[in-house]
Amino acid sequence: MERLAETVIFPPGPGDAAGLARVHVQSWRETYPGLLPGAYLAAMDARIHARRWRLQLTRACPEELVLAAEGPGGLIGYCAGAFSTGEASGGRAELFTLYLVRSAQRMGLGRRLLISAARVFSARGARRLGLWVLNENTRARGFYEHLGACAGPERPVSGWGGGLRETAYVWEHIATLARGH
Ligand SMILES: CC(C)(COP(=O)(O)OP(=O)(O)OC[C@H]1O[C@@H](n2cnc3c(N)ncnc32)[C@H](O)[C@@H]1OP(=O)(O)O)[C@@H](O)C(=O)NCCC(=O)NCCS
Repeated sequence: MERLAETVIFPPGPGDAAGLARVHVQSWRETYPGLLPGAYLAAMDARIHARRWRLQLTRACPEELVLAAEGPGGLIGYCAGAFSTGEASGGRAELFTLYLVRSAQRMGLGRRLLISAARVFSARGARRLGLWVLNENTRARGFYEHLGACAGPERPVSGWGGGLRETAYVWEHIATLARGH
């Protein structure tokens, strides 16, 4: 979809499940120490996540979007979200995940993945883009705010023993984000 320098962003298929699972486990272990229970992070099993990714990518739900980022050494990041054209969505696409391994961060790749997703959702008819971030994930919050998202309401996070909260972020004009501003 987009080729710049040595990193390619593309919609992955079931054959990419193992690579996505590896990125998933590594990036969670790099991002969430001190935020999520250490026992959960230690027990994360890339084989289980690979099965989930394979299932998701085989099912290929038309509302869902997964984009992967691949460097010369393999997959290094991904994002996933969905947009429903029905009235219930209110024209709002949702980003569920955006993760890069640490060695691939702060080189413009998070921006490229986010803007690529915004372009796809915008082309499908979305007018707004939203996501939820753990309150304590200050680095991700700084990134989203830098790219123009506005913080909205908070809510408790289900699971993890309670106690965690997350904040909504929204781009009211997905077309502006899709243009790369
Ligand atoms: C959050 C994340 C996706 C950002 O991606 P990234 O590739 O590191 O960020 P980029 O290099 O694309 O940054 C794009 C712009 O945002 C800025 N930026 C990045 N992080 C920032 C921060 N914490 N505060 C302020 N600005 C920030 C960059 O300086 C850059 O600005 P510029 O282009 O105007 O100079 C990435 O760091 C990541 O995967 N983090 C761990 C996982 C995570 O927390 N995911 C979010 C879960 S909700």
